[in-house]
Amino acid sequence: MGLTSAPKWLPPWLFYDAAGSRLFEAITELPEYYLTRTERSILAAHAPEMIAPAPAHTANHLKLRITELGAGSADKTRLLLRAAVERQGTVRYEPLDVSASALRAARERIEREFPAVSVAPQVVDYTRGNGSGLGLEPVESGERRLVLYIGSSIGNFEHEDAMRLLRRVREALRPGDGLLLGVDLVKEEHTLLAAYNDAAGVTAAFNRNMLERLNHELGANFDVDNFAHRAVWNRGASRIEMHLESRYAQRVRLASLDLDVRFAQGETIHTENSYKYAPGQAEAMLVQAGFKAEQCWMDERGWFAVCLGEVA
Ligand code: AVI
Repeated sequence: MGLTSAPKWLPPWLFYDAAGSRLFEAITELPEYYLTRTERSILAAHAPEMIAPAPAHTANHLKLRITELGAGSADKTRLLLRAAVERQGTVRYEPLDVSASALRAARERIEREFPAVSVAPQVVDYTRGNGSGLGLEPVESGERRLVLYIGSSIGNFEHEDAMRLLRRVREALRPGDGLLLGVDLVKEEHTLLAAYNDAAGVTAAFNRNMLERLNHELGANFDVDNFAHRAVWNRGASRIEMHLESRYAQRVRLASLDLDVRFAQGETIHTENSYKYAPGQAEAMLVQAGFKAEQCWMDERGWFAVCLGEVA
């Protein structure tokens, strides 16, 4: 239990209950949160190249099936689906997510907008499981699979866990398949900090929602206003860290765990790391996981990269 450790921590998956998922969607629209907007602009500019293999590739005649890890609202995915429909007429799309409600909403929206896309959602936690593969149904003969892992979600994993996940994806794929990976890149500190400490306080509410969740689900009695949202750029580790800092010395009870937790004034709970990558790092990770790094696309400012790894 991270609250009995020193320093204290909580796992970031706790962010994403229904309220947290809504707050995250609101974050993606904030002026300071450049990630979603920038990645969307890259997908808008390059979707046709991303979904098509190189002209002479042997996989060229195969029909693309798109599988998305952590699909959420699947908003940016629409750009790739549109390109795939234009190329091949119909598309099978498999969004994977832990949130059944997010998948339902994504399915309704996509089926309404793209009648040529058949949506087959799967409620799974792709981050768990230690065996090989991801529990994906094999593609049919005549098909190839493109796995999407966009939104810089990989950045919320420690490096070893990120590599383990990329290797599991690689093991689930066959020659001709690919992985499209979106990563946030290192940039000026003030830009990074603003993205995780917005003026409207939405990220602060997202961070504190973790404590609300413990109140609802573990019978805890956190007074969430007694904790301040802190975002810190850890340059050495190349990551933004989010913390909740206790404004006072206080004691909190978690009734379901029969646990009392004491906080000193200024003591923090570390809730999230969001790693930012150096140019070339995403390609190196893809290669290390067993992919052939095909190409990376970036925005003009070099803030975000979307990289394609292929299974040779
Ligand atoms: C989901 N993930 C990529 C977000 C990020 O930027 O690391 C989560 C987030 N945390 C604070 N704001 C957004």
